[in-house]
Amino acid sequence: MHNCGELFMRLLIVILLFGLTTACVTSSQSLYAELGGEDKVDEVVENFITEIEFDPMMYDYFKDSDIGRFREKFTEHFCMLTGGPCEYTGDTMEQVHTGMEISEANFNHAVDLLISAMNKANIPHRLQNRVLATMAPLRGSIIYI
Ligand code: HEM
Repeated sequence: MHNCGELFMRLLIVILLFGLTTACVTSSQSLYAELGGEDKVDEVVENFITEIEFDPMMYDYFKDSDIGRFREKFTEHFCMLTGGPCEYTGDTMEQVHTGMEISEANFNHAVDLLISAMNKANIPHRLQNRVLATMAPLRGSIIYI
């Protein structure tokens, strides 16, 4: 037989556990914060731009681009994808890449350069994989359009 006090205690424990779980889930850090926030993301983007500058295939795409704008917009975009506190103010992936005739090989190559940029910024591989997972769904709006 349960008395009222025991039932109340059980209910209280359930409520407390629920509250604790919710608090844990909602206070979990964003990927952006886990990466190291603004400074780390800036470092990755700077490394990525250097990789592009020294890569003949990629440089060919960027030779007429405003690198200052690319730095700003790519950084915002990266921040948004990884759940950081930024608003992306650039164009959509379709608007930017349409007409560039980017192939699967070009796309994979850009991803390789980004991995290189993240390695040079000492980003652990488990975090790199999570960054790449945020970009994988963009494939369709970047290649063959
Ligand atoms: C996951 C992959 C990619 C992401 C997330 C991405 C993202 C972006 C972003 C955010 C911008 C700036 C947009 C703006 O200025 O409003 C941009 C610009 C650009 N992207 Fe990508 N990009 C990707 C792959 C590629 C690939 C594979 C190429 C070429 C091989 C490429 C070539 C360019 C070029 C040339 C620009 C500058 C465009 C201009 O000068 O107006 N991107 N990209």
